[in-house]
Amino acid sequence: MAEKVVLKIKKKEIELPVITGSEKEKGIDISKLRASTGGYTTYDVGYKNTGATTSAITFLDGEKGILRYRGYPIEQLAEKSSFLEVAYLLIYGELPTKTQFTDFTGSISKHTLVHEDIRKFLDNYPERTHPMGQLSAMICSLAAFYPDSLDVNRGEEEVNDTVIRLLAKLPTLVSWIYKRSQGHPVIYPDNSLGYVENFLKMFFGYPTEEYKVDPIIAKAMQKLLILHADHEQNCSTSTVRIVGSSHAPLYAAISAGISALWGPRHGGANQSVIEMLQNIQSDGGDYKKWIEKAKDKKDPFRLMGFGHRVYKNFDPRAKIIKKASDDVLKKLGINDPLLDIAKNLERITLKDDYFVSRKLYPNVDFYSGIIYKAIGFPTEMFTVLFALGRLPGWIAQWKEMMTEKQPIGRPRQIYTGQTERKYAPISKRKK
Ligand SMILES: CC(C)(COP(=O)(O)OP(=O)(O)OC[C@H]1O[C@@H](n2cnc3c(N)ncnc32)[C@H](O)[C@@H]1OP(=O)(O)O)[C@@H](O)C(=O)NCCC(=O)NCCS
Repeated sequence: MAEKVVLKIKKKEIELPVITGSEKEKGIDISKLRASTGGYTTYDVGYKNTGATTSAITFLDGEKGILRYRGYPIEQLAEKSSFLEVAYLLIYGELPTKTQFTDFTGSISKHTLVHEDIRKFLDNYPERTHPMGQLSAMICSLAAFYPDSLDVNRGEEEVNDTVIRLLAKLPTLVSWIYKRSQGHPVIYPDNSLGYVENFLKMFFGYPTEEYKVDPIIAKAMQKLLILHADHEQNCSTSTVRIVGSSHAPLYAAISAGISALWGPRHGGANQSVIEMLQNIQSDGGDYKKWIEKAKDKKDPFRLMGFGHRVYKNFDPRAKIIKKASDDVLKKLGINDPLLDIAKNLERITLKDDYFVSRKLYPNVDFYSGIIYKAIGFPTEMFTVLFALGRLPGWIAQWKEMMTEKQPIGRPRQIYTGQTERKYAPISKRKK
C-alpha cells in the first residue's frame, strides 16, 4: 500500500501522499496542502527541508558523503572520464557512444568563437570590475546575437544549438575577460586542441610565443571541472530553474545562475578561502587566533571553505581534490606558505569540538582554491572557474525542468507586516 502521512490541523485529519525516490529517500507531497486545509502553507526559510522538484540527474547523500551523476560515482568519473564526456552524461542522460561523442565535441569546436562585438563590450569595463559580473552580463548579452533563442516554442534541435554555443563559448569568454582585465590582447580559440587545453592556452598564452599545455595542469583542470559539474538543487541551480521556469531564455537563466554563484556563501567561497589565508599570513600567521575568531559568536568571521549545507560527514569532492592538490603541488614543485596555514587550519579544526560537533569539515572550495593558485589563476578568477565547471549541470537541470513542463517557480510567504490601515496625506503625518 502506498505510504501516506496524516496531518492533523485542529480536529481535521488530512492524508498526504509520500513520494519515494529511487534511492529510497522520502518526501511528503504537499502540492494539495492549501486546497485541502483551507489556506495553510509550509514555512521553511532557506528551503532546508523542501524538495522543489524530482530530478534524475544527481544523487547526493550528505550523511554518507555520496555524490553520483546519473548513477555514476563521482570518484569513478573524476578518475576515468573527461569534462566533456561528463557534460554529455549530465545533459543527455547517458554516457555517449564514440560517434555521439565525436559529434558532440566536433560541434563544440565549431562554435568556440564569440562575436567581435562582445570583445568591444569587454574593452569598456572599468579595470577592476569583478569577472563574475562581467561573465554574467556577457552570457546574458549572447541572447542579443541569437534572437531565435528567445522563442520558447523552439524545437529540440534549436535548443541544442544554444546548449552547444554555451558550452563552446564559455571558455573563450572567461579567457577574454581575464586578458582584457590585464590589458593583454585576447587569444583566439585553437580548435585543434581539446576543451581544457584550448582554455588553458587562451587563458595563459600570448600571441607572441608558443604555449605548451602542461599535461599535469590539464589533468588537474579536467578533474576540477568534473567535480564541479553538478550538485543537485543548490543555490545557483535553483536560480537557473526558477528563472527558466518563467520561460526567460536559457542565456538569461545561466546568467542568473552565475550571479547566484558569485556570493561567498556559494561559489565565491573559493576566492574567500585564499583571501582568508592571505589575511592570516599578513597578520603574522597565527592561525589559532583565527580559529578562535571563527568560534566567537560575537564575531561575524567564519572559516571560509568549512561547512556545507548538505554534507555533514565529509564532502566526497573535497577528498578527491585534496589528493589532486597534493599531487599537483608535488609535481609542480610548489612550496607555498599559504598551504602550510591551510594544512594547520585543517589539522586543528578536525579535532576541535566546535567544528566536530557542528560537522564542519573542509569543503570543495577549501582545496580547489589551493590548486587554482598553484596553477597560476588569479584569485578573482576562481569563482569564474567554478562557473565553467557548473555549466553542464545548470543546462541539464534547466532542460529537465523544461521537458517536464514544470510550472513557474513562485514560493509563498507568511506575511508579518502591517494589517490594513488608512492612507494619510503628508500634511497630516507626524513631524
Ligand atoms: C556553507 C554554509 C553557508 C552552510 O550553512 P548552513 O547549513 O546554513 O549552516 P549554519 O550557517 O546554520 O551553521 C551551523 C552552525 O555552524 C556554524 N558555522 C557554519 N559554518 C561555519 C564556518 N565556516 N566557520 C565557523 N562556524 C561555522 C554556525 O555559526 C552555526 O553555529 P551555531 O549552531 O552555534 O549557531 C556555512 O557553513 C558557511 O558559511 N561556510 C563558509 C562559506 C563556505 O565555505 N561556503 C562554501 C560552501 S560549498
